[in-house]
Order: sequence, then structure tokens, then C-alpha cells
Amino acid sequence: MIALPVPPRLMEPTTEVEVSFLVGSAADCLQRGTSSEWVTAASEDFAAYVAARRGVQTRWEVPSSILWYVAGPYYLGSLVIRHELTPVLAEAGGHIGYHVVSPWVRQGHATRMLAAGLVEAGRIGLQRVLLTCGIENEASRRVILANAGVPDGQARGEDRFWIDL
Ligand SMILES: CC(C)(COP(=O)(O)OP(=O)(O)OC[C@H]1O[C@@H](n2cnc3c(N)ncnc32)[C@H](O)[C@@H]1OP(=O)(O)O)[C@@H](O)C(=O)NCCC(=O)NCCS
Repeated sequence: MIALPVPPRLMEPTTEVEVSFLVGSAADCLQRGTSSEWVTAASEDFAAYVAARRGVQTRWEVPSSILWYVAGPYYLGSLVIRHELTPVLAEAGGHIGYHVVSPWVRQGHATRMLAAGLVEAGRIGLQRVLLTCGIENEASRRVILANAGVPDGQARGEDRFWIDL
């Protein structure tokens, strides 16, 4: 595995990791068998792609912050914090979502990225957060449990967990 030059940290999307973001995301699409059209579009004007994702933006019908997990020149993954819940998000989706791009999985990054994301959620003013994961998603369940997630049943095919901040 690649040795990281500095510990990763959450930050707003930045053009400084353009190559790593695009290559990692393209690898991720190939690995997961999903369309990479959005990666092509991002590569055509990366500055615009980044600018559209900085700051608080309305996504999922609520104010949301997108953060990237970055170590020096390397982009490892993304975490989104939804500042509020809609009735749908209150069932499944929750406050926080995340992914680690495939070259960086199974190295503990998601577990540590969520820990850092919980600090950010506290800064936003949230006192407890809802996280949900597909009932087959063992990796994500472990990430949530390692961050003190307390199970709260299932909805829409997802396991639900609350984390007090
Ligand atoms: C889920 C995901 C974020 C995990 O990222 P990661 O960086 O590999 O996670 P970690 O390295 O912190 O591993 C967390 C735990 O899951 C386990 N794990 C990781 N990948 C796994 C897999 N494919 N199958 C089973 N367990 C797995 C790890 O061994 C670790 O277990 P441990 O805490 O008992 O040691 C990543 O696989 C991903 O981005 N998946 C697609 C998007 C997604 O599912 N997001 C979550 C939506 S709820």
C-alpha cells in the first residue's frame, strides 16, 4: 500500500488533489461496475466541479456539506453531512454518508474519517446524528459500530444507528 506522507484530514473539496481524485474515482467506478460518465465530466472542468461542491449546498433537500478526506496529494474518500433530516432521511439516509475510493479501502480510513466527520457535525451544531447502512453492508456497519453507533431498528432496507456527539 502507499505510505501516506501526512495523516489524512477532512477538508472542503480542493483542486489540489485533482489527479488523485479523478484516478481514484475512475478506479472506484471500474471496481464497483458503475458508470464513470460523471468522472469524465469532472475531468473536463475540475475547477468548476470543485467549486460546485464547496461550502454549504442544498442537496437531498437540506443544507449539506461535502468534505474530502485528503492526505497530502492523495484523495481517499468523501463524507457528506446533512445538517437536517427530511421525513425520508429520518427513516433512511440519515445525517452522514461516506465512501472510500477502492484503492484505499480496508485500511481503516472510513472508520477514522467518520470519527473526524462526527467532530465536524458537532461544530455544525448537531447533538446526535442518524446513520444508516444497507443491511448487507458489513463494512459500513462496522464503521458505524466502531464509532459508538447505537442500533435503532431498520427502515427501507437499511439498518439505523444513532451516535451522540
Ligand atoms: C463501506 C466503506 C466506506 C468502508 O471503507 P473502509 O475504509 O474499507 O473501511 P475500514 O477500513 O475502516 O473498515 C471498517 C471495518 O469493515 C471491514 N471491512 C472493510 N471492507 C469490508 C468488506 N468488503 N467486507 C467485510 N468487511 C469489510 C474492515 O475489516 C473493518 O473491520 P474491523 O473494524 O472489524 O477491523 C467502503 O467500502 C465504501 O466506500 N463502500 C461503498 C460506499 C458505502 O457503502 N458507503 C457507506 C454507505 S452507508
